[in-house]
This record gives sequence, structure tokens and C-alpha cells, in this order.
Amino acid sequence: MRRGRGAGVQATPARHVRAFDQNADMAPAPQTPQGAAAALDVCRRASLREFNTFGLPAAAATLIRIASEADVRRVVDHPQYGRAAKFVLGGGSNIVFTRDVSAVVLKVEVMGRRLVCETPEAWIVEAGAGERWHDLVAWTLEQGWPGLENLALIPGTVGAAPVQNIGAYGLELAERFDALDAVDLVTGRTVTLDGAACRFGYRDSVFKQQGFGGLAGKSLITRVRLRLPRPWQPVLGYLDLERKRADSGIDAPDARTVFDWVCAIRRAKLPDPALLGNAGSFFKNPVVSAEQCRDIIGRDPAIVHYPLADGSCKLAAGWLIDACGWKGKSVGRAAVHERQALVLVNRGGASGAEVVTLARAIQESVYGRFGIRLEPEPVIV
Ligand code: EPU
Repeated sequence: MRRGRGAGVQATPARHVRAFDQNADMAPAPQTPQGAAAALDVCRRASLREFNTFGLPAAAATLIRIASEADVRRVVDHPQYGRAAKFVLGGGSNIVFTRDVSAVVLKVEVMGRRLVCETPEAWIVEAGAGERWHDLVAWTLEQGWPGLENLALIPGTVGAAPVQNIGAYGLELAERFDALDAVDLVTGRTVTLDGAACRFGYRDSVFKQQGFGGLAGKSLITRVRLRLPRPWQPVLGYLDLERKRADSGIDAPDARTVFDWVCAIRRAKLPDPALLGNAGSFFKNPVVSAEQCRDIIGRDPAIVHYPLADGSCKLAAGWLIDACGWKGKSVGRAAVHERQALVLVNRGGASGAEVVTLARAIQESVYGRFGIRLEPEPVIV
């Protein structure tokens, strides 16, 4: 029951109200069945610290919990919230808050997961956008529907996964994607988008794009369907997984073993956001032309790089930052992780400004040494 979850919001000071169409500020609403059905779960002056994995301080003037498509339509039709600027928040695992949010924050909590259908070619699995991504990965494995194991332990929600086309250990969400449902934040209409409509790229999708046809800030993803191909085939091309295979002597691992390997690799390198605030990789791995790549390799033969099909090259941003000596360095309480230079962490009590200052200093030093501009991966608010 989501209405009971309002207590989880850290409000400072909190005014948790149920908003009705004609009176948003009305104090706790009458509990008629009809009234309750039409209620929105609204929290005033809600702290966002618990809602971002970096653990950065920020507040939302208004936070509305969204448990269904009907809730989104209630917001869209609402006389006050309908026209207000809106900010969609999932698990907060790819966000850096540098200030309070004046837009109405829509906290996505649409739950549920099910097998939609099973064909000789694939299992199609659907999950609510508010489900935790890792729980979905673990659950599909338990059900006997493998295919997501390389994406284990990625923090965040199911709804956020297509936004940045999450990827790890040789697999991107786009390769397991079937379709999603989203509600247009202006019209309230539900649309279904397939993979082509989502315009997936490296850590990119139509939901991050502003220009022509871009949907950044325009819609709220409610459900995601994944296509898990049959027969299952392991994806073991990533160097760390090849090493696990060689070290373990297991030549043909099952999906559970791959899942365990991925979890072990991540735990060894990446900080657990529950213990040390972070937003995963802070920068994208930059893509450079073949010519630029040859030039950089000429100067730094050790540089970690991955040739791409079109002749260009992806460089390991973590290596570039590491080479500039940033591991373990800090600005205030924001620091570069000791085991993965691509990850910035909150040592406790950091502000968004400190994180951004540190990020800028890293960008400048990498540009100074390699002539490469690093692009931040998380959304900076
Ligand atoms: N490296 C260093 N020093 C460092 C960090 C990395 O030399 O401090 C080198 C490593 O030795 C390795 C290479 O850089 O040879 C790549 O490192 P790693 O395997 O850790 O992966 P990454 O390129 O840094 C990307 C994703 C991660 C994903 C991993 C595994 C991006 C921006 N990041 O990181 O995704 O888990 O590959 O697939 O593409 C995320 O997006 O938040 C994320 C964690």
C-alpha cells in the first residue's frame, strides 16, 4: 500500500497532504472511497537526500509519489500541478543535486512484475518503472528467465534503465529491450515506444534528448518490457569476465554463475551507494576518431581503448583520470574513488557544489594532458 509509504519522506519541515483537484493545499482529505481514489500523494518541502544515491542535500518544494498511470493523469489534469514544470525522479542513482528543486518532483513508484509471454524465441517480462533494477534481474533469474545477469547490481529503478540505456560487462539494455509505456506530461496520454523510437545510444536515449523529437522532461515512463532471447547464451566478451572464466576454470558458466561473477567484479571495484554515496561512473567514456586515437596511443601506448565498428575508438575515461593522478583526491567532502577513478564519491556531508567543483577540475586536467573533453554522465541539477 503506497499511501502508507509517505512516512518515508524526510520532510523539513514536512507538510504531507493529499491534494484534490480543486484544492491542492487542503489539509488531510476526507476518507471517502471516491476522495481517496482521486487523491494524489503530495509532500511539501521534502528532503531529497534519501532519494539520491550520492546522498546530496536538496529539497523539493513539492514531491508527488506516482504509483500508477492514473496518478500521472491526475497531475496533468490538476489546476495547479498540470501547468507547473515537472521533474521525474526514479531511484536517484544518476543525479547530482546542486540546489533545491522548484519544479514539481514526480517520484516514480509504479510497481509490479510479470511474464507477459513466452515464445520459442524469447521470454517477454514486464516491470513497473518503480521496481528496483537489481531486484528485477535477480527475480528473472530465479524464475528461470536468464538474460539480464550482466546488468546485475546496477543501482536505480527499472524506469531509469532505458533513459540512460544502462550497460555493463558487454551488454546494454537496448539489447534486451522490447518496449515501454510512458505518459505524456502535457496531454496525459499513454504511448508505447519500441526500441527504434527510444533512439538508444551509448548512455543515451530519446528521454535525454532535447532537440527534434526529443522527450527530455516531456514524459514519464511507467512500465518497461524486456525481451530475453532463447536459447540463453552467455555474454562473456568483457575482459573482467574472461578473466573470471580463466581463473575459475568454468568454461561454460550458467546464468547464475555469470550473475555471481558480475556481482563480485562490481563489489571489488565500485562503492556500494548505501555505504559511500556515488552515482556510478561520473563521466562517459569518450569516443574519438581513429586518427585522434592513433595520436594518443603514440604518446601514451598504455591507454585503454576499444576500437568501434566505424573505425572510431572509445577510450577508458577511468584510465585517463587515473593517469592524471586523481585517484583518492578530494575537494571538500567529495572525492575520487580509490579503486575506480571514474567514480566520484561523497565521503559524508559533501555538497553538490563540491562534487561539481571536483568534476570540473578533473575535466580541466584531462583536457590539459590529453586534449579530450570528458562529458558528465549523471544529470546535474
Ligand atoms: N581503469 C584504470 N583506472 C581506473 C579505472 C579504470 O586504469 O581508475 C581502466 C581499467 O583498468 C580498465 C578500463 O579502464 O582497463 C575500464 O574500466 P572498467 O572495466 O572499470 O569500466 P569503465 O569503462 O570505467 C564502464 C561503464 C560502467 C560499467 C563498466 C563495466 C561507462 C561510463 N561506465 O566503466 O558503468 O559498469 O564499464 O562494463 O560506460 C555506470 O555507467 O555508472 C557504470 C558504472
